[in-house]
Amino acid sequence: MEILGLDIGGSGIKGAMVDTVSGKLMTDRYRIDTPEGAEPSDVAKTVHQICQYFHYSGPVGVGFPAIVQHGIVLSAANVSKNWIGQNLNVLLSQETGNQIFSLNDADAAGIAEMKFGVGQEYLKGVVILITIGTGIGSAIFTDGVLVPNTEFGHMKIRGKDAEDRASDAVRQENDLSWKKWGERFNEILVTLEALFSPDLFVIGGGISKKFEKYAKYFTVQTKTIPALLLNQAGIVGAAIYAKEQSEPSG
Ligand code: BGC
Repeated sequence: MEILGLDIGGSGIKGAMVDTVSGKLMTDRYRIDTPEGAEPSDVAKTVHQICQYFHYSGPVGVGFPAIVQHGIVLSAANVSKNWIGQNLNVLLSQETGNQIFSLNDADAAGIAEMKFGVGQEYLKGVVILITIGTGIGSAIFTDGVLVPNTEFGHMKIRGKDAEDRASDAVRQENDLSWKKWGERFNEILVTLEALFSPDLFVIGGGISKKFEKYAKYFTVQTKTIPALLLNQAGIVGAAIYAKEQSEPSG
């Protein structure tokens, strides 16, 4: 079954058709810049444009960079504060005419990695996936089951949000060396290791491609590896989520 998966990010909104059996993209990714300010109505229009680009009608999976509890947006770190309290599923359904199934973007990436990427070997145990981009997102799985909406990027590290110390945006803005950034990110891993004793850390987001440059600065005992699906994970996971949610169970 092919489903449209979308990944709404702080800088771009990306979509592709996903084969939900293989987890492979069936088309190239189509990307539109996130509208300035990332206001709800503007983002909804962009999502509509992407659906039209693919001439798609059907269930759509949408990863969104905030807490999304049963469709309702509850936070807004890197998008307009006007999102808080909005029903993302209803808003995007009204705009596009498609049935929308939305979830947190890092949770979407985690679902894809567990099903088609590095997580397949860790279906037993505790896996923590951290996505690094404009913000820092997180997903935690226990025996393959997701606990949604963890927000480890907003964990306080020496009094400051983890993502304000070690997101990729912060690395670029401050021109941090890989050593400096790697050491900062390591503080997050050390804290998570002490709190959760995971079996595996997975590092996702665009920066996962550069893993060798900074992983040498990590001091955690927990096995730590880069994500396999790189920047496709959010799109694939969103499509998988839509498929699971739109099908009657059993
Ligand atoms: C948000 C998370 C999101 C992450 C990555 C954070 O600022 O609070 O919900 O998963 O950025 O986009």
